[in-house]
Amino acid sequence: ETGCITFDPGYGNTGACKSAITYMDGEKGILRYRGIPIEQLAEKSTFVETAYLLIVGRLPTSEELTRTSVMLNDFSLVHENMKAFYQNYPPQAHPMGILAAMVNAMRSFYPELTDLDEEMNNTFLRLISKIRTMAAMSYKFSIGQRVTYPQPGLCYCANFLNMMFDNDVVPYHVDQDLVRALNVFWILHADHEQNCSTTAVRVVGSGRVNIYSAISAGISALWGPLHGGANQAVIQMLEKIHKDGMTIDQCIAKARDREDPFRLMGFGHRVYKTYDPRGKIMKKMCDIVLAKVKRDDPLLDIALRLEEAALEDSYFKDKHLYPNVDFYAGIVLRALGIPTNMFTVMFAIGRLPGWIAQWKEDMADPEMKISRPRQIYTGNTVNDYIPIDQRR
Ligand code: SDX
Repeated sequence: ETGCITFDPGYGNTGACKSAITYMDGEKGILRYRGIPIEQLAEKSTFVETAYLLIVGRLPTSEELTRTSVMLNDFSLVHENMKAFYQNYPPQAHPMGILAAMVNAMRSFYPELTDLDEEMNNTFLRLISKIRTMAAMSYKFSIGQRVTYPQPGLCYCANFLNMMFDNDVVPYHVDQDLVRALNVFWILHADHEQNCSTTAVRVVGSGRVNIYSAISAGISALWGPLHGGANQAVIQMLEKIHKDGMTIDQCIAKARDREDPFRLMGFGHRVYKTYDPRGKIMKKMCDIVLAKVKRDDPLLDIALRLEEAALEDSYFKDKHLYPNVDFYAGIVLRALGIPTNMFTVMFAIGRLPGWIAQWKEDMADPEMKISRPRQIYTGNTVNDYIPIDQRR
């Protein structure tokens, strides 16, 4: 039925639900948000407009987009008392753990969602606006710099970059080409059907907990290296290849070897059995942003050669393993100056509108039931309790 996933053993535990938000064809490499191809949105839309499309179900009028942008600006500050959380984290705390906690803490500072009928309501806008501020705050605290506050004259993406990199002695110069690249990066990540973290949001949300806690569950699920954590794992893999001087042939051989822990991160996908359409766009963005920052990145050269070799290799061809969205994402983020341990946080900011849209789809369904997957029992048959003095 519509709404939350019911894992029906008849589907071999790949439960399915009905949703009207995102369409994927894993064989043909198609991805559409509310029917609009990802390629058109990446070329013509902005992240805020795409967020509106996903959550409301249609593109906004000019007035609606302006009002949304104004509200995102109005909601961009974080309660000053939340700084105390950041001040008490150990310096090595991972920003994904901090983000999951901060979003969950929002329920203690901001009102519960009341009116789902409001198409794009304040709670959604509060989350979308503040996640950006909270992410930048974790970076500033980690490098011991004073927090840079959001600026009223900057758009959503420019504000984030400014909050990350502006400081009291070296003002950050907002480059519109890099702002465009960040819009595209977040558009590509905005939703992806019933992936691991979206499923977590819907399952946790089905218990009717507040939206902040449901989203926090999605952030935690995204953190894993097989999911959103892969963008950080790809860069760490490429850095290791570069540092150790591994040849491409060695990498391919190790990735094929089931006994070898080396995995080709950024390759393979549960749904796409062809090139991830987002990966194609992300690959093109590498050249654009690197040219803009006038820097070569040796990791891009390794990634390109690794992709070429893997796509020719029988193991990867036979298993339909292609680059996914994460394979080139890290190169783009490095060129934007984002530190590696913030890569998955960047994914989370992008995926938030999709999580909200999918959560809303469930909450709007009066028939929606709590998620309660069943199991196929494989344990002991019935037996009796053995007193401890008789146990061997
Ligand atoms: C994301 O679901 C989504 O939509 C996720 C996402 C989103 O937008 O939300 O697209 C974001 O999470 C992308 C994926 C990022 N993760 C990585 O790049 C990590 C590296 N990739 C793999 O670990 C793997 O491909 C998974 C986890 C993504 C999928 O693994 P599965 O479930 O095993 O996929 P599969 O069944 O298609 O694998 C087929 C075979 C298996 O071998 P056999 O059991 O047939 O012998 O290919 C093997 C896999 O072991 N395989 C790999 C491999 N990925 C799969 N072998 C070597 N290197 C790899 N990267």
